[in-house]
Amino acid sequence: MQPPSTLQQLFQREFSTFPTFIVRAPGRVNLLGEHTDYNDGFVLPMAIEHAVWIALRPREDRQVHIYAQNFDEKIIFSLDSLEKNAGWGEYLKGVAHALQKASFLLKGWDGVMFGNVPVGAGLSSSAAVEIAATRTFALASDYEWNARQMALIGQRAEVDWVGVNSGIMDQMVSAAARAGHALFLDTRSLEYEHIPLPKEAAIIVMDTSTRRGLVDSAYNTRRAECEQASKTLGVAALRDANLTVLNERRGELEEQVFRRARHVISENQRVLDAISALRAGDLAYFGKLFNASHNSLRDDFEVTNDALNWIVGIAQSQPGCYGARMTGAGFGGAAVALVKREELEAFSQAVKSEYKLKSGLDAQLYICEASAGTSIEKS
Ligand code: GLA
Repeated sequence: MQPPSTLQQLFQREFSTFPTFIVRAPGRVNLLGEHTDYNDGFVLPMAIEHAVWIALRPREDRQVHIYAQNFDEKIIFSLDSLEKNAGWGEYLKGVAHALQKASFLLKGWDGVMFGNVPVGAGLSSSAAVEIAATRTFALASDYEWNARQMALIGQRAEVDWVGVNSGIMDQMVSAAARAGHALFLDTRSLEYEHIPLPKEAAIIVMDTSTRRGLVDSAYNTRRAECEQASKTLGVAALRDANLTVLNERRGELEEQVFRRARHVISENQRVLDAISALRAGDLAYFGKLFNASHNSLRDDFEVTNDALNWIVGIAQSQPGCYGARMTGAGFGGAAVALVKREELEAFSQAVKSEYKLKSGLDAQLYICEASAGTSIEKS
C-alpha cells in the first residue's frame, strides 16, 4: 500500500477535512551491538522501510483524537489529564507525558496512524510510534524538532510510561538514520556516524513467527545483571570494562553475571571491529562477527529461543550467507542475515522450507534496504 495517500482518505473519513501534515518514522534492524546500549556501549542499527505514519491536523484545544488503522480504533485523551491505560495509545500518551515533563508546551491534534512494522518481531515498532509522535507534537505545537533530544523523549516514554527500561538505540536510529547507511552510535555521548553499507550484500530479516513472553521482565533482569557486574567491577558502565579485568575478577561475580558481562564487553568490541570491516569492504569478516554475536547472545546472554537458534543455523549454512544472528531484544522475534545479492532467491526459499520442516512454523522474510530516519511526507 501507499500509506500517505490511504491516510489522507482515512483522515477525511474520520475528521471530514484534510490533514495538514503526514509524518513518518521507521522501524529498525540492528546489525550488531545487542544489549550494549544500556551499558553505554556501541550499536550499529539501520532504519528499515517498514514504518509508522501519522497524518495530522493541529487542534485549537489540548485534546488528541487519534484513529489507528491497524486496530480500527479511535482514542481521545486530554493533555491536561493523562492517565495510564493499556494498548497502543500508551506510546503516544507516554511521549506527551515526557514532553510536558521536559517543559514543552503542547497543543492537541487530530490524527490517523498506520504502521507496517511487524509487532513483537524485534524491529522496534514501538520506537517508530514514539518518534512519529514526537514529530507530530512538534508540528502541532510548533516547536523545533531535534533528533537527539526527541530520541531521549521517546526513551522516557518507554521507561517512565510503558515500564520497559530500554536503551536509546531504537529511538536514535528511527530519528537519525540515513538511507543506504547504518548508524554507528556511541550510546554514551550520542555521537553517531553514518556508515555506508555495501551494495553487493543484502540484509534479510527473518521473522521466526515466535513471540516473546514476559519479555519486559526478562529484559529488565538482564539490565539489572549488567548493572550488578559494573558495580562489582567498579566501573560506571560495562562499556568501561575489558575482558582482561573481567577474567581476573571472575571469582567476585556470580557465574551468570560474569557471562552477561562477557557478552556485553565482547559485543562492544565486535561493533568496533565491524566498522573496520565495513571500511575495508571485508564482508566475510563482517559476517563472522554476526555469527560470533549470535553465539554470545545464545550462550552468555541467554536471550535466544529454539526458533531463533534454528533459523540462524539454517541461514548460516546456506551458500552466499556471510553471517546471521538474532536481532533486537531476543526471546523470540527476528534474526538478521547478510547475504550475497545473487544468492537471495535461493537463500530465501531454502531458509523458509528448512525452517518449516524443523519448527513447523512459517518464517516471514524481508529484504531490507537501509532507509532514512523520520521525515515529513506532506506539508
Ligand atoms: C530493545 C531495546 C533496545 C536494545 C535492544 C537490545 O530493542 O529497546 O534499547 O536494548 O532491545 O539490543
